[in-house]
Amino acid sequence: MSEIELDSVYKIFGPQQERARKMLDEGHTRDEVQKETGAVAAVIDASLRIGQGELFVVMGLSGSGKSTIVRMINRLFEPTAGRVTIGGTDITGLSARELRRVRAEQISMVFQHFALMPHRTVLDNAAWGLETRGVGTAERRERSREALQIVGLGDRVDAYPGQLSGGMKQRVGLARALATDAPILLMDEAFSALDPLIRREMQDQMLDLQESLGKTIVFITHDLNEAMRIGDRIAVMKDGRIVQVGTAENILQDPANDYVASFVQDVDRSRVLTASSVMEDPRSTLGPHEGPRAAMRVMREQQVSALFVVGPQRKLRGAVRDDAVTEAARRDGTLDEVLIAPDDLTWVTPDAPLYEILAPAAESPLPLAVVDDGRLVGVIPRVTLLAALAGEGEDSPHVSLAGSDGTGANHDRPGGVESASSISHLSDPPPPDLGGHAEEAAGA
Ligand SMILES: Nc1ncnc2c1ncn2[C@@H]1O[C@H](COP(=O)(O)OP(=O)(O)OP(=O)(O)O)[C@@H](O)[C@H]1O
Ligand SMILES: [Mg+2]
Repeated sequence: MSEIELDSVYKIFGPQQERARKMLDEGHTRDEVQKETGAVAAVIDASLRIGQGELFVVMGLSGSGKSTIVRMINRLFEPTAGRVTIGGTDITGLSARELRRVRAEQISMVFQHFALMPHRTVLDNAAWGLETRGVGTAERRERSREALQIVGLGDRVDAYPGQLSGGMKQRVGLARALATDAPILLMDEAFSALDPLIRREMQDQMLDLQESLGKTIVFITHDLNEAMRIGDRIAVMKDGRIVQVGTAENILQDPANDYVASFVQDVDRSRVLTASSVMEDPRSTLGPHEGPRAAMRVMREQQVSALFVVGPQRKLRGAVRDDAVTEAARRDGTLDEVLIAPDDLTWVTPDAPLYEILAPAAESPLPLAVVDDGRLVGVIPRVTLLAALAGEGEDSPHVSLAGSDGTGANHDRPGGVESASSISHLSDPPPPDLGGHAEEAAGA
């Protein structure tokens, strides 16, 4: 069961709401509806499922309906139509008293500009949320102290708001929300007023909090980079409608429409995409029992000069290169004798962001091995990496490169990182952009 569910939720402000809704369902735009009826459709037919412990981002331009949608999650705004469920309870049907309880126990909210009370200490400001919930002095101070500790203000509890920086004030707001112990945090542009460095720090803190406290967080931002950086999933809104929901990688790799595509075109892909989203199947590998002659045959067939060797369950045992394999075959040796161990190869984990693997990829003569728990789960030829960063789709020409099956060392360069130096003199010359030659060679 999802923690938060929205089913076909609408919020329409102003006159003729029923008529406005009919028009929207008939496919009229928000502008047309407003001209015709005078009603403002802030949120149109929104459905979402947000899981327990998820950091869910709602993103969109100003006026797209972000604040309205979160305000319906705690019913600060009454939905015009549709259903909102929190932890299985339909909150659209609750009485005022029941609703207060859900709000007190389940949901806390942090705003962009929330007011700290200037004559109260940081501690009493943080305790405010608990005070309004009727928690006694001793308990609320204790809980607030803990929350301030979590956000890094443990040593400022006695300060007054006037003595704090903007970032610190924002932390007090966060502490106030944390002190309530509510499992759901709604954050509306909570960091938007902060300057970039502090903002980044706060983002990191959010990620830590989510991990350590397991909160379900709905985070609103109009900043795409922020969304992509922290969101487990992101909902993109436009003119009151949710136009796409997905992970940052989904949205970058597979935008739902031209609007989303143009929205994300300037995103720094190297920070969002990870090894797992661009890696390819390691199609040709050698099994543990194959000998040097089998290795030579596969290399000839595949037009490659090195191969990864895997054991049971695709455990990466290492790699072999053509000259060593040929030499082993000549003296009737085994593959093991010429195996380059995983520790001497350059490999990355599936969750490594692309910007971290650029340098190793540039320096590794082999495609990068993507290794998860010791298993070879994919390979990234350098050309694949470059194509992904350039935003090229799957059908770009690189897939026909002989080396792109992960076996080849078509992407060789002299030198290389230390870990790969033992195989760095390997292989054929063409750099990745000379794919045509590789194809010719393969056909020859
Ligand atoms: N109380 C209201 N009465 C009338 N219209 C409203 C009201 N609240 C919001 N709107 C309208 O609903 C639309 C969505 O507003 P909302 O505040 O949800 O946008 P937002 O995405 O949060 O924008 P921002 O990034 O500027 O905060 C806007 O066109 C806004 O003018
Ligand atoms: Mg807003």
